[in-house]
Amino acid sequence: MIGDRLVHLDVVDSTNRYARELVRDQAAEGTVVTAERQTAGRGRLDRSWISAPLQNVLASVILYPERAAEQWGGIPLMAGLAVATAASTLAGVDAHLNWPNDVLVAQRKLSGILVESGQLGSRPWAVVGIGINVNQTRFEGEYRRIPTSLMLEAGRPFDTGEVLSTVCGAFDRLYTAWRDEGNAPILAEWRRATRMFGRIIVIEDAGGKREARAVGLGDDGSLRVEHPDGGVEYLLAGDVSLTEEQS
Ligand code: BTN
Repeated sequence: MIGDRLVHLDVVDSTNRYARELVRDQAAEGTVVTAERQTAGRGRLDRSWISAPLQNVLASVILYPERAAEQWGGIPLMAGLAVATAASTLAGVDAHLNWPNDVLVAQRKLSGILVESGQLGSRPWAVVGIGINVNQTRFEGEYRRIPTSLMLEAGRPFDTGEVLSTVCGAFDRLYTAWRDEGNAPILAEWRRATRMFGRIIVIEDAGGKREARAVGLGDDGSLRVEHPDGGVEYLLAGDVSLTEEQS
């Protein structure tokens, strides 16, 4: 079960990098690496993840998914869902999801997720890095999206251990469903937890910067968008950020 084995570190460069080392040592599936502080926390697209020491959840989950690669798009989505579910359960916040895996409260960023994957011999692995702002109330520096925390949203502090174990419980339930049935149950739940659909988003990727309307998910977990000329595109990678709300 996810979280049954915990490797807790005081300080590390990145829990994701450390977890990848544990993969090389064949750590068990569901092992979670956590740290009180990271000196080189990493975000998507080579960005950094800055988190005040001792206040937040910094965790990386080791998985050895056995489903076909076409189904792996469900993994980042289920991680975001697990965090949103835990945030709602513990703090009563109205968390929602931005594709592929930002957890937002009123458009402010509560959590970011970085999934890395590879193959060791013939065994595929994934490391799911989860950063959740829990008790941090001051965020200095530049952020692409305004950050928030459970403490800022709920007006009280939270036990980071309890937040982590609630996320692990939700993640385990979703991962079991995915193992048994594939992407379908994850996508159904994710669709209910997003507010992106119908909105105009800005897409930034190798193809440049363009606007389109987010309209749904593909079966593989891709984001389906419609361009102003009616053309449809499925986004598999790249950076998608929401602009203003449209009707
Ligand atoms: C993002 O929003 O760009 C993803 C941020 C992911 C941050 C987490 S913190 C724990 C784990 N270790 C890392 O170095 N990154 C992830």
